[in-house]
Amino acid sequence: MTTTATRPAGAKPRAAIEAKTLRTDRWWLAPVLTVIGLTAWVAYATFRVFMQKLYWVDAYHYLTPFYSPCVSKGCYPAAAEFGRFIPDNPLIPFAALSLPFLLIFRLTCYYYRKAYYRSFWLSPPACAVPDGHAKYTGETRFPLIFQNAHRYAFYAAALISLINTWDAVLAMHSPSGFGFGLGNVILWINVIMLWAYTASCHSCRHIIGGRLKHFSKHPVRYKLWSWVSVLNTRHMGLAWITLATLALTDFYIMGLAAGWWNDLRFIG
Ligand code: FES
Repeated sequence: MTTTATRPAGAKPRAAIEAKTLRTDRWWLAPVLTVIGLTAWVAYATFRVFMQKLYWVDAYHYLTPFYSPCVSKGCYPAAAEFGRFIPDNPLIPFAALSLPFLLIFRLTCYYYRKAYYRSFWLSPPACAVPDGHAKYTGETRFPLIFQNAHRYAFYAAALISLINTWDAVLAMHSPSGFGFGLGNVILWINVIMLWAYTASCHSCRHIIGGRLKHFSKHPVRYKLWSWVSVLNTRHMGLAWITLATLALTDFYIMGLAAGWWNDLRFIG
């Protein structure tokens, strides 16, 4: 993005038009919907993360992703597959080991950056609509320079997706041994979508196919890069789909744990 201060020599300034924008379509709709969607999701997730109950269904070993891995001393022992070693405190989430990394992963995601820069920061709110700020300093200085941490957050997110996958495996359980119900279907859909979102990450695409001079000399990496590139074109959709699957999975397990409904069982 070019500003008055950084405009290359010879480049023309923005046309002097009086109207703020000449767009006549509903360009404001996407930013408004983004604000509503993200605010609602963050409010729900915050409420659930600090609730510190209704996150585990003992009969079927269902653990909501918002509490995975459950590492607080306050976790149910059966839900704490990786041990309980974090102080039990109302201000410390039970999954305090994973949630900060997931938050950083999403906050620094290329798509979410676009979404919240446009909708919350109005920088700019849409194409051909002026920036809400007089100055643009980009991501080259504090604090936005930390957006570059995204590639490292990707590794943490991949590890957490592995843990979520393990949770889904352990959840194929019933009081009599193996079991499978609607909760498992929901957990597996969530895990598959999380992997799709994680694999579609721009950093993942670069890790797999970047820094190569000749694709022809790296056919396996080229093939993987081609697959990731297909997913990458759907990154925005996957970002929203995973917000929905995470919230729905959590809500379904909360309802089961609270006794609001029963799990539809296919086996066990
Ligand atoms: Fe969105 Fe990496 S770019 S998760």
